[in-house]
Amino acid sequence: MITGLSKLGLALFTICAFFTCLQIGFSQDEVTEREYVYAEDNQQCLKCHGHKTYYFYNEGVGHEVKERMNPYFVIDSAEFYQSNHWNFSCTDCHSMDYRNFPHAGELRMEVKAVCMDCHGGDDTYAKYHFEGVDEEFIKSVHSTKHSEDFTCWMCHNPHSYKINARNNTNVKQTIIYDNNICLSCHADINKYQLISDKINPNVLVKHEWLPNQALHFANVRCIECHAERNDSILVSHNIQTKDKAVKQCVECHSQNSLLMASLYRFQVKESRNKLGFFNASVLSESYIIGANRNYYLNVISIVIFGLVFAGVLFHGILRILKK
Ligand code: HEC
Ligand code: HEC
Ligand code: HEC
Ligand code: HEC
Ligand code: HEC
Ligand code: HEC
Ligand code: HEC
Repeated sequence: MITGLSKLGLALFTICAFFTCLQIGFSQDEVTEREYVYAEDNQQCLKCHGHKTYYFYNEGVGHEVKERMNPYFVIDSAEFYQSNHWNFSCTDCHSMDYRNFPHAGELRMEVKAVCMDCHGGDDTYAKYHFEGVDEEFIKSVHSTKHSEDFTCWMCHNPHSYKINARNNTNVKQTIIYDNNICLSCHADINKYQLISDKINPNVLVKHEWLPNQALHFANVRCIECHAERNDSILVSHNIQTKDKAVKQCVECHSQNSLLMASLYRFQVKESRNKLGFFNASVLSESYIIGANRNYYLNVISIVIFGLVFAGVLFHGILRILKK
């Protein structure tokens, strides 16, 4: 009996280990060698824009002077080289004339390219559904209330934006990354007022109805509650007015949690493709009251239940026989 059980235990352990390996297999990101072709070129700009202070030769006084850089014009070169547009030269997006300093005054009138100028209608980027994203964004509260001023760049910082939801296997990091995009305005009056003269509503106060707010904000994204769900794109871009926001607890705390169609959507799709199971084991990483159902755990618990039942039955029969 004992050896039988331990063999079974070993078998179960092997099965679990196998599935764990499979899961680890998924989470390996492809690591590619990068060659920074424009590093030297960009250094011509970053020697000033990469620092809080910069130097230039002042012909008037006849020597080099040191000045403070406008903090909004400082670019973090580490973030830049990790962003999606890491292999760009600064002057791919900015005028060549910026190579001269002092920069010519009319350069500030420069019209900057937007996402769709480069990504619209290009098959290389079909999987991102740029057109779909654009349509959704145009319907959003940000665009309808502030069309021209509110560009994609407001949320996608040109010098640091990096896709997360699609290729970061650490969901918590994605949540922080995505929420910081919203908080860059909703928790920062200086950026908010680039768009609106209204008083910036305090998001912490406005969400006091949500119990354990800090825990929620670390485990769900703002867009889960504020963006209209859209099955054809990975990240919904139609941010709706506050009266349409999710307030019902059961929308998440239930078996068919909305999180499966939003936050965990990419993981659900990937594990379905690779394993062919409907019950993807994505929620196993985090426990959400009412929403968890793990395929393997279910199977194992049924097996264990069966074993216990068989053991009790066997024991009972033995005792009856002995009497
Ligand atoms: C000698 C230091 C220095 C160098 C080199 C330099 N910049 Fe600047 N840049 C500045 C300063 C100072 C400002 C803010 C004052 C101004 O606009 O002249 C600025 C402003 C800017 C602005 C903002 C203009 C606006 O008003 O919106 C852009 C864009 C810019 N630089 C791009 C570049 C690019 C691209 C390069 C490299 C090709 C570059 N800069 C090289 C010092 C420099
Ligand atoms: C993918 C295109 C792109 C690349 C590459 C790029 N920029 Fe920019 N940059 C922009 C856009 C767009 C804006 C205007 C942002 C906005 O309107 O919010 C901008 C704004 C700026 C500003 C003004 C700051 C501000 O927030 O208005 C500076 C300074 C600047 N860029 C410097 C650089 C330097 C230096 C590099 C190279 C290291 C660089 N940029 C590379 C697109 C780019
Ligand atoms: C000046 C043209 C240009 C603009 C403007 C531009 N992009 Fe790009 N983008 C590119 C190019 C070219 C690449 C490919 C870079 C590479 O070699 O990986 C790229 C890469 C990307 C990638 C990664 C694609 C991948 O599979 O690796 C994303 C995501 C992306 N851009 C989103 C945006 C968004 C969002 C905007 C607007 C906020 C934008 N881009 C604006 C030209 C542009
Ligand atoms: C209100 C903020 C906001 C605005 C405005 C916005 N985005 Fe996004 N976008 C996000 C967030 C948040 C993500 C998720 C980032 C992540 O984790 O990858 C995202 C992701 C994306 C992605 C990657 C989706 C994927 O399939 O991986 C693309 C492409 C994109 N946005 C394009 C755009 C374009 C084009 C515009 C303008 C028409 C735009 N965005 C405007 C917030 C915004
Ligand atoms: C560039 C700044 C900026 C960013 C980034 C930004 N917002 Fe906003 N948002 C605003 C402004 C300004 C308004 C006020 C619009 C109005 O009523 O005039 C607003 C309005 C809203 C509203 C509507 C409130 C109402 O009165 O109905 C919601 C919800 C919202 N934002 C959520 C988000 C979410 C979620 C994100 C991130 C995906 C985000 N915002 C990113 C500036 C921003
Ligand atoms: C659990 C769902 C949920 C999450 C997560 C959530 N919100 Fe909200 N939010 C709501 C609801 C519901 C309202 C409307 C509250 C009301 O009217 O009393 C709201 C209101 C707002 C408003 C309007 C405030 C006002 O009264 O003008 C803004 C702006 C906003 N949220 C931004 C955010 C940002 C930014 C995040 C992420 C840091 C976020 N929300 C996360 C559900 C959520
Ligand atoms: C957008 C989805 C969403 C909505 C809406 C939502 N929750 Fe949550 N809730 C979560 C997630 C995700 C967690 C974090 C689970 C974890 O601990 O990892 C959580 C955690 C909690 C916890 C803490 C559990 C613990 O382990 O301490 C409580 C209590 C809770 N929610 C109650 C509520 C109530 C009450 C409402 C409605 C007013 C609500 N939630 C609305 C997603 C949501």
